Amino acid sequence: MRRFAAFVLAISVSSLIAADEDQVEYRQEVMSAIGGTMGAIGKILKEEVDRPNDLATLAAALAELASTAQNVFPEGSEGGDALPEIWEESEDFAERLTALKDAASNFREVAKSADMAEIGAAVGAVGRTCRGCHHNYRE
Ligand code: HEC
Repeated sequence: MRRFAAFVLAISVSSLIAADEDQVEYRQEVMSAIGGTMGAIGKILKEEVDRPNDLATLAAALAELASTAQNVFPEGSEGGDALPEIWEESEDFAERLTALKDAASNFREVAKSADMAEIGAAVGAVGRTCRGCHHNYRE
């Protein structure tokens, strides 16, 4: 009986760990997509590529990804470069996720114009939400 209990425990612990790893990898894939989108936007703004017409599409993609990012830090998904403070200071962390979403939605609106100064400012505001959160919550 005791051996059976130990077996059941081992199974449930190992499936827990597997689930965590998948959650962490999923989060990192979503974050990488956000990073790639921001990288492409940066190349346009620095005029390393002449693709200004892609800005509105990339801004829309970023806004959608920022919405997806709201759900990639569930309880029990500790790991990767995510610091434990994310779940200890969950209110501050949630505010930072909201700030990312709001800044990305604002950028999506602004990107419909051809006003490069406003677009630059809106992207700068998004970038500050990335850096602020990484500084506090990413290893
Ligand atoms: C609310 C907090 C928060 C915000 C805002 C945020 N990030 Fe992150 N980001 C994290 C955390 C935490 C990790 C580490 C995740 C892990 O390793 O599980 C991470 C990881 C990453 C990674 C590495 C992914 C990998 O493959 O390991 C990239 C790239 C990234 N973020 C880009 C961005 C960009 C670009 C922005 C802004 C547009 C942004 N992040 C906004 C918290 C945030």
